[in-house]
Amino acid sequence: MRVSRAIRFLTPIWHIWHLRKKTELERCANSLKLWGGRFGKETDELVNELNQSISFDQRLYQEDIQGSLAHAAMLAECGIIPKKDAAAIAKGLHEILEAVEDGEVEFTAENEDIHMNVEALLTARTGDAGKRLHTARSRNDQVALDFRMYVRKEISVICGHLLEMESVLCRQARKYQNAVMPGYTHLQRAQPISFAQHLMAYAQMFSRDVTRLEDCGKRLNECPLGSGALAGTTYPIDRWQTAKALGFEVPMSNSLDGVSDRDYALEFLSGLSILMMHLSRFAEEVILWCSWEFKFIDLDDAYATGSSIMPQKKNPDVAELVRGKTGRVYGDLMSLLTVMKGLPLAYNKDMQEDKEPVFDAVDTVTLCLPVFAAMLDTMTVLPENMRRAAGRGFINATDCADYLTKKGMPFRDAYTAVGKLVASCGAAGKTLEELSLEELKAVSPLFEADVYEALNLENCMALRSSYGGPAVSETSRQIQEIEDFVNMKHKERGDKAAEQEDE
Ligand code: ARG
Repeated sequence: MRVSRAIRFLTPIWHIWHLRKKTELERCANSLKLWGGRFGKETDELVNELNQSISFDQRLYQEDIQGSLAHAAMLAECGIIPKKDAAAIAKGLHEILEAVEDGEVEFTAENEDIHMNVEALLTARTGDAGKRLHTARSRNDQVALDFRMYVRKEISVICGHLLEMESVLCRQARKYQNAVMPGYTHLQRAQPISFAQHLMAYAQMFSRDVTRLEDCGKRLNECPLGSGALAGTTYPIDRWQTAKALGFEVPMSNSLDGVSDRDYALEFLSGLSILMMHLSRFAEEVILWCSWEFKFIDLDDAYATGSSIMPQKKNPDVAELVRGKTGRVYGDLMSLLTVMKGLPLAYNKDMQEDKEPVFDAVDTVTLCLPVFAAMLDTMTVLPENMRRAAGRGFINATDCADYLTKKGMPFRDAYTAVGKLVASCGAAGKTLEELSLEELKAVSPLFEADVYEALNLENCMALRSSYGGPAVSETSRQIQEIEDFVNMKHKERGDKAAEQEDE
C-alpha cells in the first residue's frame, strides 16, 4: 500500500524532471546550427538525412570527449582560453560522458555528427565556455583524431581475441601431438603429419596477424589534432602536449596529411581481411573435417545447428558463417579503398564514408574470433578416424623412396621405382606395407625386411624431425614458441595498461 502511494506521489515529479531534461536536450539540438550565420534557409530534410553521421559515429563518443578534454586543457595551458572556462568544459564533458554511458542522452541528426552533438550538449551546459572549445580546431582534425584513437583501441581488442585463439590451439595441440593424420596438397593425401602440426600452422598465422595489427598500431600512433581544417592555426597551440596527453608518440608532421589520410584505416582493414582469410581457410577445413567423408572431428552441440527437415543433420554453421562473413570484411576494405581513390587533398565529405566499413569489419571480426575459438576449444577430436584416413592414399610413398635413396639409389630412380609399386598396389587395392618382400624386391633388390619399419606411419611422422616438421620434438617446440609469444604479449599488454593507469 505504502509503496504504491509513494509511486503515485513520485511519478509526476519524475515526469517533470524528465521533461526538463528533454527540453534541455532539444534546446541543445537547436542551438548548434553552426553555419547559421551564412545561410538564409533551413537545410532540406533529405539533405539532413544524407549528411548526418550521428546514427553510426556516436560510437566514437568516448574518443571525441577524450580528444576535447585534451584540447581544452592545452588551450588553457597555452593561454588561448581562460583557465576557468577550461575547467567548466572539463566538468561538462565528464558529465556528458557519464550521461551518455547511462543512456540519458539522445543524440540528434539535427546536429549531424558526434562532434557537433557533444559540442551542443556542452554549450547547453556551460554556455560561453562551451563555445570556446572549438577554438583552433576543426571537425576535420577532430574526426581524424577520434577515428585514429578508435582504430588503435580496436587493434588492442582484436589482438586480445587472437591471443585467446592461440591459447586454445596450443591446448588442443598439446593433446594431439601423436595423432597421425594425412597432410594434404591439392586436397589429395600427401604425407603424414600430426593434428598438432596442423593446428600449429594456424597458430603461426594468427601470431603474424597480431604483429601485423600491432605494426599498423605503431604507424598510426601520430596525432592529427592541431592540423585544423587543413592549414594548421594561427593560435600558439602546443601539439606535443595534446599528442602526449592522448597517448601518441608525436604530432603528425603535415597538417594537410593530418586531415586527409585514412591509410591507417585501410591498413587496419587489410590486416582484418588477411586475418579473416586465415579464419576462412580454417573454417573450410572444419567443415570438411565434420563431414562423414572425413569425420576427423565432431562439433559440440552448442556450436552446431540442426536442419528443419532432416532429423539426422548436424551442420557446421559457425564455420560456414565465418567463411561467408570473410566476404563482408573484404568488401569493407574495397569500399574504403574506392572511397579514397580519387579524392583531392584535403578533407572531402566522401571521407565520412570511412566509418561504417571499419565498424562493420570490427563487429564481424570481434564476433567471429571468440565464437570460432570456443568452437575449437569444445570440439571432439577423433584421432582414430584421422589414423584410418592416413592408412590409405600412400602417404608413406615418399618415405619408401627415401628408404631406397638412403641405401644408395639416386632419389629420382627411387621415385620411379616407388611409382611402379604404387601402380601395382592400385590394381590389387593394397597399401605399400601390404606388399610382400618378394614383390618389393622385384622392383629393387635394395629392399630388406627393415622396409616395413620405414613404412610404418608413426615412424614416418616421428622421423620428420627437421626444424618445423611434425615430429613430436618439433611440435612441442612450436607449441612452446606460441605459448611464449602469447605470454610475452599478455605481459606487454599488462605493462601498457598499468602505464596508462599511472598517467
Ligand atoms: N562527420 C564528419 C566525418 O565523419 C566530420 C567532419 C566534417 N567536416 C566537414 N568539413 N564537414 O567525416
